[in-house]
Amino acid sequence: MIYPIVAYGDPVLKKVAQNIQKDDPGLDLPKLIQDMYETMYEASGVGLAAPQIGLGIRLFIVDTDRMEDSETGIKKVFINAQILAEEGEKWAFQEGCLSIPNIREDVYRKPKIRLKYFDENWQEHEETYEGVAARVIQHEYDHIEGKLFIDHLSSLKKTLLKSKLSNISKGNVKVDYRMKFPAQK
Ligand code: NI
Repeated sequence: MIYPIVAYGDPVLKKVAQNIQKDDPGLDLPKLIQDMYETMYEASGVGLAAPQIGLGIRLFIVDTDRMEDSETGIKKVFINAQILAEEGEKWAFQEGCLSIPNIREDVYRKPKIRLKYFDENWQEHEETYEGVAARVIQHEYDHIEGKLFIDHLSSLKKTLLKSKLSNISKGNVKVDYRMKFPAQK
C-alpha cells in the first residue's frame, strides 16, 4: 500500500517521535515497513521516516543503493535509533525532502556518525557510517526528532523560502507522487 506523503506544515513533522514497543499488538511492523518501501520508491526517494506518512514513531528506512556517487550504498530499516556521536568537519551536501518538494539546499553536517538501532528483526546494532550514507541517516533521524533539513538553514535562507513553503502546505506545488497537504482548501 502506498501512503500519501505528509507535506510541510503538518504538525506530525514537528513532533519528537515515540519509541516502538516490540510487542505492540496494534502495529503490523513487517507490513508497515513493506508499505514504506513501496511509498518511498513510488516517490523516487532514498529515505523515508514514519512521520512523513503521519505516524509519530521512531522508524525510518534508507536505500542509498541507487544514488550515483555512493560507493557504499545501504538498504536498511532503523527502529528506535539513537545517534550516539557525530564527528568531523561539517561538509555541505544538497538535501531535499519528499515532504518539501522542489526545494533543494546545501546543508552542513558532520561527516561521521555512530548510532544504535534495532533492525526489522529486532536485532540491536551499534554502527558507524560516513559520507552519503551518514548524510541520509542524519536527514531521516532529524525527522524522528521533529526536525526538517530547512531548520538547518540560515534565517535569511528561511525567509527567502517562506512563500514557497507556504505554497507547499497549501498544495500549490507540482509533484508526481501523492501527498497530503495540511493547509489545502
Ligand atoms: Ni526528509
